[in-house]
Amino acid sequence: MARGRMAVSNAADFAPRRQDLEPIEIASRDEISALQLKRLKWSLGHAYANVPHYRQAFDAAGVHPDDLRQLSDLSKFPFTGKDDLRANYPFGMFAVPREQIVRVHASSGTTGTPTVAGYTAADLDMWAVVIARCIRAAGGRSGMIVHNVAGYGLFTGGLGFHGGAERLGCTVVPVSSGMTERQVRLILDFKPELIHATPSYMLAILDAFRAQGVDPRGSSLKLGIFGAEPWTNAMREEIETAFDIHAVDMYGLSEVIGPGVAAECVESKDGPHVWEDHFYPEIVDPVSGKVLPDGESGELVFTSLTKVGMPVVRYRSRDLTRLLPGTARAMRRIEKITGRSDDMMIVRGVNVFPSQIEEIILRDARLAPHFVVELRRTSRLDTLTVRVEIKPGGDDSVRAACSRDLAQLIRSEIGLNVAVETVMPGGIERSAGKAKRIVDLRLKE
Ligand code: DLL
Repeated sequence: MARGRMAVSNAADFAPRRQDLEPIEIASRDEISALQLKRLKWSLGHAYANVPHYRQAFDAAGVHPDDLRQLSDLSKFPFTGKDDLRANYPFGMFAVPREQIVRVHASSGTTGTPTVAGYTAADLDMWAVVIARCIRAAGGRSGMIVHNVAGYGLFTGGLGFHGGAERLGCTVVPVSSGMTERQVRLILDFKPELIHATPSYMLAILDAFRAQGVDPRGSSLKLGIFGAEPWTNAMREEIETAFDIHAVDMYGLSEVIGPGVAAECVESKDGPHVWEDHFYPEIVDPVSGKVLPDGESGELVFTSLTKVGMPVVRYRSRDLTRLLPGTARAMRRIEKITGRSDDMMIVRGVNVFPSQIEEIILRDARLAPHFVVELRRTSRLDTLTVRVEIKPGGDDSVRAACSRDLAQLIRSEIGLNVAVETVMPGGIERSAGKAKRIVDLRLKE
């Protein structure tokens, strides 16, 4: 694939100076653990004393907050799942009188009852601090113009990011998602240096630049923070090259706070550092629930350490990754999230994640990074069709060749026979928020 040379300066030039970091970001492991233990004791006690759900769950498991003497004792405590939040919908998980909750957010609830998150003023303050940390890690600075494309509303991405960007001293453009042509106009007129979006929507903005005949590499943008959905390093390269920016990953989930649970550093781009002074991570075996050592892959579980309004104890994220040692910061990293346990498709016995397919698609310079995976059941056999877009300029014979080549690569690398349909540019629906990669037609047919 033709790759232009990066004209944006070195990533290292954007790295914050050591003296601009918070002391905990470069503290020793012992200091971090000591702070975590102190805060974990408080958080478990707070949840037990103030949330009936936790009192009942701890009592049923025969554990009490006083049983936590060292960090590893956390494994004795019960997990919390989305179902527990739903069973206590809407405000049953709050640990303070409702009047002290100054904001609520909620998940979209497309798969059932929404889950609600509540924040006290102190929680919003902590959220702004961790988001400011993420933006600084991405190379952002006070004084920069920040174009915030995440959706404002019940989704945590828009308002959550906004508060942290203001805290850092940026000029925030709260543009929200959608109205893609206008995004281009505002980027050209306001000249932001940093953009925050879902990676898939950033690609829709890229289409709009091209449709308007504007060179995306010539814009004022230098840095991008992307998250809210899985994206591969291949996608990072695609976005960095197309816009001539540095792109980093930010991870988070509403139940734990929203965006800002973990973020990558621009100088290393080696997986998000978990802000472990506020969110205690564990990796567990998704089936047995057993805690796994650092370095082993499993499901990410979080316990909040400082949240007042809605503490969470061992919340099961369903996200699959592993914990890695700190690099650019003292706090541990998670490997880029490659999928969720509920995103894993098991097709004729083979486990497949959309991210594996994304990686293979992005290696073919003729294909655009827009795709969906359709699951069907024909005569009791599951079949998988990858629908992917061709880049502008390809004709029918190129499309046929692309379909053939992609099917062959998926067969040799994932071990699965799939049908591939290569469609014309614009043939795959764009999403302004999280991309919908899997279309499961098995129940409907
Ligand atoms: O998506 C919060 C967020 C907003 C994060 C903006 C980053 C940027 P939820 O809507 O509750 O919250 O969805 C949380 O999204 O459990 C992951 O499955 C997925 N997710 C979030 N960030 C990433 C990421 C927000 N960087 C769920 N990589 C999580 C992969 C991500 N998946």
